[in-house]
Amino acid sequence: MIIARTIEELQEAKKSLTGSIGFVPTMGALHQGHLSLIRRARDENTHLIVSVFVNPTQFLEGEDLEAYPRKDDADIKICTLAGVDILFMPSIDVMYEKDELCIGAPAVRGYVLEGEKRPGHFDGMLQVVMKLLNLSGATHAYFGKKDAQQLALIMQMVKNYFMDVNIVPCDIVRDEKGLALSSRNVYLKDDEVERALALSQSLKKATHMILAKEFNVERIKKEMLSILSQTDKVEYVAIVNRDFQAIEEIEIGNTIILVAAWVGKPRLIDNLWI
Ligand code: PAJ
Repeated sequence: MIIARTIEELQEAKKSLTGSIGFVPTMGALHQGHLSLIRRARDENTHLIVSVFVNPTQFLEGEDLEAYPRKDDADIKICTLAGVDILFMPSIDVMYEKDELCIGAPAVRGYVLEGEKRPGHFDGMLQVVMKLLNLSGATHAYFGKKDAQQLALIMQMVKNYFMDVNIVPCDIVRDEKGLALSSRNVYLKDDEVERALALSQSLKKATHMILAKEFNVERIKKEMLSILSQTDKVEYVAIVNRDFQAIEEIEIGNTIILVAAWVGKPRLIDNLWI
């Protein structure tokens, strides 16, 4: 595996590549969720590039940029074992100039839910993903449904900017109790792990209600909120269509149910695609 830390090193490493290039961008502290994307990209492509970069422009003032878990040595080992060809680990200076042209998240989709709670987050995320997709020369780039709105906005960016890359959505990986894996789960204290399960349990409840033919969004949300009262603070429970517009009735094949809540230090998100 080649570790590239500069643009020149990355370009040099890419020179010999022919065939499809799978790419998995991450912010590191790799876990089984990341690994599921990496394995799939390995299986489906001739070459595999992974990036580890904690992108400052997608963190808001007062968020956990400094404290965000960094585990470079472990990440290098994991990527070596997973058969990654090139691991791109740039510094901030390599990725950014001082006064940059930026692209912005779209007015509606980009400023509801996560975009409303974290204004500017998606602008920074799209900025870095655009850079990383261009740099990697990926033919196929893999993103988790865990970050549903992020995935939808990246697909829109690729479409709107006529970018020549296939975006591959990947399923959410959970632990044995149902907690969606996240680098931020390391912040959870023992007693908080149990309460964090409320997120996935609320989604499970929604599934059961829908299977029992309850399609009324308000009634489903009410049951979910009662389970989510175990968390410290619910930021939102939303039931939307795939365009992130609120709906009144569940539309099978066109609905996403999303939750965001605080448990102890971390703010957790989870979702379910119906
Ligand atoms: P990060 O949070 O490190 O996640 C990298 C990728 O892993 C994203 O596509 C995310 O959706 C996916 N992922 C995380 N947890 C997952 C889980 N439990 N199951 C399935 N996939 C999971 O998302 C980012 O980094 C950044 O915003 C990035 C796209 C790298 C841009 O900086």
